[in-house]
Amino acid sequence: MKKVAVIGSISTDFVVTTKIIPNQGETLVGESFQTFFGGKGANQAIALSRSGLDVSMIGAVGKDVFGQALIDNLKENGINTDMIQTVDTAESGSAHIQVMDGDNRIIIIPGANDRLSIDVVKQYQQQLQQMEMVILQNEIPVETIEYIIDFCATQRIQVLYNPAPAKEISEEYIEKVTYLTPNEHEAVLLFGNKERAEVLRNYPNKLIITLGNQGATFFDGEAEVIVPAQKVATVIDTTGAGDTFNGYFAKGILEGLTIAESLKLGNAASAIAIQTKGAQNGIPMYEKVVASL
Ligand code: RIB
Ligand code: NA
Repeated sequence: MKKVAVIGSISTDFVVTTKIIPNQGETLVGESFQTFFGGKGANQAIALSRSGLDVSMIGAVGKDVFGQALIDNLKENGINTDMIQTVDTAESGSAHIQVMDGDNRIIIIPGANDRLSIDVVKQYQQQLQQMEMVILQNEIPVETIEYIIDFCATQRIQVLYNPAPAKEISEEYIEKVTYLTPNEHEAVLLFGNKERAEVLRNYPNKLIITLGNQGATFFDGEAEVIVPAQKVATVIDTTGAGDTFNGYFAKGILEGLTIAESLKLGNAASAIAIQTKGAQNGIPMYEKVVASL
């Protein structure tokens, strides 16, 4: 099995489903409340694991009732959790999510995820050297992300960087990663309001912009390629759709598929995931994704 490491967030999602969102000062009655396992790092680790890769996670949780449950959940999903820290300087990360008509609004409280320092990651250089790919998102400190990208660049380890949620990244780091996968909103923050085609042309076979229910696009050196999403009749919950997409895109690349084929795999996996409530519950196993192609 190919080895990959996710260095990223591990959180609990507190999800309220509602038909209406209150205005300031207003109180409304919602429909339901549930807690789910989440955090972009953990979600991507689970997608990678269900796709059939050997996944290790580096992250941090708090010394609270959530922390151990978050680690146990990853273990149950076959993920190596030996490099996850339990810290007493912050609570476990959480995300406070409102789901309305299948779409969501999210406030995250990073907590322990913000304690994943360079010093912590430095201890694991040897383990990282064994990885075929390192996968990153934007829910841990920027300096840690930059340290990992620098390290992977010197070691020639592929990096898939999903810059979500939106944060600015310096050009130097965009250059150093193998794949960068913003959505349209994140792409505007990174590259301004330039024409999409122009932005893509600057990063051939590296920059992949995800387009929600339209699929994903990249520039292959000659032309812009749009890989359309699969149609989904009833969308239940898009939370974690991007995470599933990224995990399965990485799987495709590591299995030697082309970028376009890997995007198709990512699209297919996320189309399945959004038909189940919760970021991780709907993430499919590899066989199911392949059968849906
Ligand atoms: O990408 C979805 C994830 O983002 C959720 O699970 C939530 O934790 C937020 O951080
Ligand atoms: Na889901």
